[in-house]
Amino acid sequence: MIDNKIVLTGIKPTGTPHFGNYVGALKPLVQMSQDHKTFVFIADLHALNIMHNPDDVRHHSYEIAAILVALGLNLENAVLFRQSDIDAVYKLNTFLMNVTPKGLMNRAHSYKAAMDKNTAAGNDIDSGVNMGLYTYPVLMAADILLYGADIVPVGADQKQHVEFARDIAGYFNNIYGETFKLPEPMIGADTGIIPGLDGRKMSKSYDNVIPLFASEKDLKKGIMRIITDSKTPEEPKDPDTSTIVALYRHFATDAEFADFRARFAAPGMGYGAAKTELFEKINSVLSPMRAIYDQLMTDTSKLDEILASGAERATAVAEKTISRVRKKMLG
Ligand code: TRP
Repeated sequence: MIDNKIVLTGIKPTGTPHFGNYVGALKPLVQMSQDHKTFVFIADLHALNIMHNPDDVRHHSYEIAAILVALGLNLENAVLFRQSDIDAVYKLNTFLMNVTPKGLMNRAHSYKAAMDKNTAAGNDIDSGVNMGLYTYPVLMAADILLYGADIVPVGADQKQHVEFARDIAGYFNNIYGETFKLPEPMIGADTGIIPGLDGRKMSKSYDNVIPLFASEKDLKKGIMRIITDSKTPEEPKDPDTSTIVALYRHFATDAEFADFRARFAAPGMGYGAAKTELFEKINSVLSPMRAIYDQLMTDTSKLDEILASGAERATAVAEKTISRVRKKMLG
């Protein structure tokens, strides 16, 4: 689909991206970049409310940039940059604070979750809540509105934040006249939940992830650790509840998947053999990209160049927006 819509999304550098992130967000984003003007940024400012070690922020930021480049993000259509490199975003954040009702922030799911946890633990309701967390949706609105985004692909947990950006744009437009486009959230087609090593959803918080570009050795180790029951190779197995089969699907063609699924279900294939095949399949898909990733991470000068060029292109757009907003608000 080629159209004139501007796609924008941010990725927080809070950990090493894993298979779940790849299937749910990174792969579809790289696909979108092939035929859309896309803004993709590393949301390092959004990480600061929980991450207070600059080396970690920097390292995970490089990882995200390297992964996107290795996966083939189209760098002509896509502007890849660090959120913190754009001066205009700090400014728009300050401006938007003044049209954003406090009550809107009180309704944010992430803030409510923090309050609920405090209440359950018998703590002060705002214990551990900093203003970065509380005003997180305002900064996110600034991200989105600065570049005139039409479509914002996000996980379901971020839908409310994009709706808030729409609301905030509306409040601004009501006071100052038509200024911002109203963005639409795009919640990824349901790819199903990517199971982690223990069969629960793959998530950093469950410690059951395989990093996308784990070394070949660690990838193999991770796959061998996938928890299964104790059926023998001769016993029939249900392919639709198997983590092995679920992971295989995302790295194979439809025909390869159908073949693997049928052989898995039929007597004869044990879990060990199935895991070895899964490893070989995933490794064959990922290893050319892993080579690019490893090179980018070993010498980050190429990433610095890409991010600097992205910052320049993003700044050109952002500065236009901020001067319009400034004029409207300050005369
Ligand atoms: N809050 C998003 C997340 O946690 C990251 C993000 C920051 C973002 N700014 C954004 C996503 C703007 C989309 C648009 O995943």
